[in-house]
Amino acid sequence: MKKMLFPQIAQVLHGGDYNPDQWLDRPDILEEDVRLMKEAGINTATLGVFAWSAYEPKEGKFHFDWLLSVMDRLYQNGIYTVLATPTGAKPAWLDENYPEALRCDANGMRLRHGNRHNHCLTSPAFRRQAEVIIKRLAEAVKGHPGLILWHISNELGGECFCPLCADQFRNYLRQRFGNDIEKLNKAWWTDFWSHHYTSFEQVEPPYANGERSIIGLNQAWREFTSWNMGQYVKFERQLLRELTPDIPATTNFMQVYPTLDYHELAKDLDMVSWDSYPRYHSDTESMPETAAETAFAHAVIRGTKPGQPFMLMESTPSLVNWHSFNKLRRPGVLRLSSLQAIACGADTVQYFQWRKGRGSFEQFHGAVIDHLGTDDTRTFREVAALGADLKKLAPVLGSVPEAKAAVLYDWSNRWAIEGMAGMAASTKQYVRTVMEQYEALSRLGVETDVVSPEADLSGYDLVVAPMLYQLKPGRAEHLRAYAKNGGVLVFTYLTGYVDENTLCFLGGFPGDGLKELTGLYSEELDTLYPADRNGARFEDGSVFEIRDYCEILKVQDAEVLASYTDDFYAETPVVTRKKAGNGSVWYVGARLEARGMEAVYSRCLDEAGTVRIPMPEGTEAHFRSNGEQRFAFYLNHTEEPVTITPAAEGTDLLTGRRVKDSIVLEKYGVAVVAEDAV
Ligand code: GLA
Ligand code: ZN
Repeated sequence: MKKMLFPQIAQVLHGGDYNPDQWLDRPDILEEDVRLMKEAGINTATLGVFAWSAYEPKEGKFHFDWLLSVMDRLYQNGIYTVLATPTGAKPAWLDENYPEALRCDANGMRLRHGNRHNHCLTSPAFRRQAEVIIKRLAEAVKGHPGLILWHISNELGGECFCPLCADQFRNYLRQRFGNDIEKLNKAWWTDFWSHHYTSFEQVEPPYANGERSIIGLNQAWREFTSWNMGQYVKFERQLLRELTPDIPATTNFMQVYPTLDYHELAKDLDMVSWDSYPRYHSDTESMPETAAETAFAHAVIRGTKPGQPFMLMESTPSLVNWHSFNKLRRPGVLRLSSLQAIACGADTVQYFQWRKGRGSFEQFHGAVIDHLGTDDTRTFREVAALGADLKKLAPVLGSVPEAKAAVLYDWSNRWAIEGMAGMAASTKQYVRTVMEQYEALSRLGVETDVVSPEADLSGYDLVVAPMLYQLKPGRAEHLRAYAKNGGVLVFTYLTGYVDENTLCFLGGFPGDGLKELTGLYSEELDTLYPADRNGARFEDGSVFEIRDYCEILKVQDAEVLASYTDDFYAETPVVTRKKAGNGSVWYVGARLEARGMEAVYSRCLDEAGTVRIPMPEGTEAHFRSNGEQRFAFYLNHTEEPVTITPAAEGTDLLTGRRVKDSIVLEKYGVAVVAEDAV
């Protein structure tokens, strides 16, 4: 069941952001770019990301000839175009003529012209101008054989507190609460501190200088902002669909971005893509740690559109310019991290950027072509060598990671946890906790997806739901059905406290029926100071450390697997298990150290009969399958050679060599084994 993203190319996409609009007075450089791209094995360029003022220097005056001639030249040389809609930054005339397109900050202050990624999410005037430029652009390029994909705007994000957005928020609330203000009052518990409303008109966004005490309102504002950006994406997507029905569209996501629900946004996109800028070689993390975090981010992004490859839309060929320390990636790391993206399910390796601009904010950001202007650089050679490697990976295209386990991640749950007043702000760490579960499973040798609590879970042996504080309607039922049908389901502390409006469940946490499913309830939640420790003692005598959070559990009908070692709740249950239909439900009531979670997951995986392929420390294995063939990726993130045992025999696509019982992975080495059919 191959689902190749770009069948017309049938190669791993290799390219990146290219800004010829900054070099229109240098035709010699534009010529040279194409020559160098071919030399580097580039087959795609992302054009026009911020080119609005080059397309429309004055309102209503359009220039697309330069774009068409660049697209023509690229195409004639075998290079396809990913074309951005230029709405990531506004021309000066637009802000001058339509100030309502400018965002307002959380104090309601109108921002001034400048910067980028800052249009008002609601403004009709902005949408009218966006519609004009997108229509003109699409008409200009329509039917061009080089055009393969639309790249909607750029790194959408942020929020706007202008009067138009405030009104839009009220409309959103009217819809959500069936135009009944009393429903809103109930859902937000507004009798507290005399917050009762008598009309929707009275509801204000949570301004920085205003009232932030209504937790339901804060939550609704976050959901609204994400929804409103989603409306914007729909608007651009719809326009593009009308104008160029055959061209797919994406937008570039940003890792586990805090304020947009990518699970929702992805629904309007044909494929998902993201921009990956890991902090390699830092003074706080080892290479394998940075690599594991990156693998997690890949899993989050692919989980927004399960069942198909994703795109690595941006990455740096050498360094960035916006980390606190902009260290060069060491030789070999470009190859390693790019192949890691492929291992995790990407079908593309794209860069920011092809050529450094001479001036402005990104003049010192890494690029394939430096100010030096030649191919005689370390970076260029590494890019060209990678281009040659990527050509060998065409058989992998369209396959997807074969995950046996899933960790649930949800934006709205994240907002609810972050927005709740309680626990300890510095240690809530929902995203980190989700990531740690992903990493624990990876260390156990299990390919793991990160998906929404609403995703189809039926294919997974094991599902982990860390800190699932908020249960939207239907979620508890969905999870119960998963377990009853034979799945192994793990909950942790902080499960099922609040509903979709952040109202607490009455009658015991975890609410919405999960008390019965887990066979317990949590009577109290203890927040520890950073230096505090407790422990979990399992029946075999092993003890694992606990920090940050301990729930005091009342077990009604579950097997107790571990109990607390200390404090006034010493000897009371902390880890439990209960059978549920054909499956089982596990509850881990405290923040257990990683080794402790691994011990729990090992038992879960044994129970599920999951095959595990544990790897030596600092190395990683990933498996992609297209239903007919499986590809194993083995990556060495350490600086020493490592010998690994492959899961199966096959042929290394990168070297063409046969692989049998062992593979030596050199420093930063990678093997991609097309496994023999069994
Ligand atoms: C983001 C943006 C790019 C560029 C890079 C720099 O990913 O999308 O336009 O600014 O960062 O790293
Ligand atoms: Zn606005």
